[in-house]
Amino acid sequence: MLIAQISDTHILAEDSDLPEAQPRAEDLRRCIVDINGLDPLPDVVIHSGDTVQTGAIADYNHLTALLAPLRPPLYLTPGNRDHHDTFRAMFDNGSGEQPFLHFVIDDFPVRLIALDSIDPGERKGVFCAERLAWLDEALSAAPNRPTILFMHHPPFDVGPRFIDGYRNLADRDALAALVARHPQVRRLMCGHCHRSSLRAWAGTEASTMASVARDVREGVDVVRFAETPMYQLHAVSEDGAVTTQTRLVSDS
Ligand SMILES: [Fe+2]
Repeated sequence: MLIAQISDTHILAEDSDLPEAQPRAEDLRRCIVDINGLDPLPDVVIHSGDTVQTGAIADYNHLTALLAPLRPPLYLTPGNRDHHDTFRAMFDNGSGEQPFLHFVIDDFPVRLIALDSIDPGERKGVFCAERLAWLDEALSAAPNRPTILFMHHPPFDVGPRFIDGYRNLADRDALAALVARHPQVRRLMCGHCHRSSLRAWAGTEASTMASVARDVREGVDVVRFAETPMYQLHAVSEDGAVTTQTRLVSDS
């Protein structure tokens, strides 16, 4: 199974005058062209949040126009820049009636679970007891199926700038303790810190990725790669082992 992950696209309205607006749109457009041209085509694309910059409807209208050509199915989880209600209205994530934008994708050999770590007006991550209970139930429903989680805020530090990134640090500790009780979890994939990283976490492994938006990337040579969009490709074996590559997009 092949998963393409995009993150932190921070798209602005199509008529925005800000200098970063068009380069960000171009970064996403080129990533999509590249994904669509891969052989084999990824089974699924996940977006780990901060899809837009301001949360305005005009941002989302531009985003959906840019995403429209994407060939594989796309699943999105929100970031702190996203507007909870607009996001829910525009992307049918299957989160149903429950208050959070969590959902499970059972259509693939490896189970995918999207987690919602946002609270309106809060930049930091939030993962309250109610969210923990939802995840515990979701993981308990299929303890023998390899599972990948994805969410916006990494529940661990990513140096040097993403430190103590949860409103209540006890939230992230409780999340780690819960995941450690469910050994079918093979990877947690995150965004938010705009930087690529991989680490051991909660008895499994966790990764973050550089933002698709070039001007807010961290840990990337901004001169050499200024014109190079990038995203991640995760090849997942049947037992859930994940091999990740960072895909650099050449002119397209
Ligand atoms: Fe972001």
